Amino acid sequence: MLRTHGIGPLTLVVCLVTATVFAACKDDKPATPPAAASATATAKATGLSAAPATSGAAAPTAAKGKDLGADKLGAFKPLPKAMESKDGSLTGAKVDLGRMLYFETRLSKNQDLSCDSCHDLGAYGVDGKDVSTGHKGQKGGRNSPTVYNAAGQFVQFWDGRAADVEAQAKGPILNPVEMAMADEAHVVAVLTSIPAYVDAFKKAFPEAKDAVTYDNLAKAIGAFERKLVTPSRWDKYLEGDKSALTDDEKAGFEAFLEAGCAACHNGAYVGGAMYQKTGVVRPWPNQKDQGRFEVTKADVDKLVFKVPTLRNVEKTAPYFHDASAKTLEEAVKAMAAHQVGKDLKDGEVRSIVAWLKTLTGDLPTAYVAKPKLPASTPTTPKADPK
Ligand code: HEC
Ligand code: HEC
Repeated sequence: MLRTHGIGPLTLVVCLVTATVFAACKDDKPATPPAAASATATAKATGLSAAPATSGAAAPTAAKGKDLGADKLGAFKPLPKAMESKDGSLTGAKVDLGRMLYFETRLSKNQDLSCDSCHDLGAYGVDGKDVSTGHKGQKGGRNSPTVYNAAGQFVQFWDGRAADVEAQAKGPILNPVEMAMADEAHVVAVLTSIPAYVDAFKKAFPEAKDAVTYDNLAKAIGAFERKLVTPSRWDKYLEGDKSALTDDEKAGFEAFLEAGCAACHNGAYVGGAMYQKTGVVRPWPNQKDQGRFEVTKADVDKLVFKVPTLRNVEKTAPYFHDASAKTLEEAVKAMAAHQVGKDLKDGEVRSIVAWLKTLTGDLPTAYVAKPKLPASTPTTPKADPK
């Protein structure tokens, strides 16, 4: 049974055609792991020969001096300017409010944590820790993903349990191991005690009778996140600037294709478009976190995770939901071994990493500068360290 979730007929056809390669469409159906022959399938789909990846210490040199053709680039797209929302309204007032709320520690029980604590916008949207530290120093169970370019993904969280960034933003504030607020009413009480916030909500949601709501807070944060886009040299290349990549980087992209990585990591976000099993070919060493299974309790979802975006991956160590890889080289090796059953040579790993680094964008420093936050009033609830 195909559930379409409002996907148009054209998308559906594309999905069906590519289903053998990409194994999953933009659907919350459990992912079918790519067949063992995925490398061959990918090679066909990308127009490469199905020959095994170049072995030996040297990086593949096929791309030397040549530009990559549409046959190879077809599955990739430049980033959009903003990751539009369903209702399409990213007004300045909403974004400005969202930015304030993103940095607002008074949305946490002890008034010491904000979104930025675990998704540091000055550090590519991550905290660099294996797992994040929340209220009272409690440790979470998973590595914190980046918020840059996250809004464009087909679902949010490693296990896809939130449909979009607006739905996602409601989670951490009330999560007892994260920001640990008691309930939505308490959050609204904090905000309504500060007149500048009441004004900002009214400006952001002019039609609302009751502007300061938990829903609107999530919408404002989502609006801010939808412009956290970081175009890089890879986008310049895709847009036609053939000098944007060096020959070694182009060779690295070919090595990425040859290794079969693009079956799961493709599109504008080089990921973020499907679920897949972690450990498709060789079992993942750490079986503790069962990923999407924790949400659906369906056996086919055991160890199934969202394929993460590889945008800015150079800057977002450690890697994987369990932070089991500390360097990008280790992560690439582990992926080749567990997802496609290949033991890459060091030269191939270096080559792929060279291309991955072209996905590092410039941070929008003015856009993410911490705004001045309004002062508390005598009625603002106090920090609670307990
Ligand atoms: C205590 C640390 C912590 C805080 C505070 C926190 N997050 Fe997160 N965030 C995480 C972790 C860990 C995950 C991954 C959890 C999972 O997938 O189960 C995550 C996931 C996300 C994702 C999903 C990204 C993706 O690729 O799927 C977004 C978006 C996000 N957080 C935004 C926010 C926003 C907005 C706030 C503030 C309202 C916030 N976070 C507060 C740790 C934190
Ligand atoms: C069968 C689908 C599939 C294939 C093929 C695949 N990946 Fe992945 N990739 C995933 C999934 C799923 C994850 C998340 C794993 C986890 O944390 O459980 C992931 C995670 C990653 C990460 C870590 C990102 C982060 O932010 O933690 C990197 C880097 C990566 N892949 C690179 C590659 C490379 C390079 C290749 C080719 C050698 C590749 N992948 C092939 C599905 C795939």
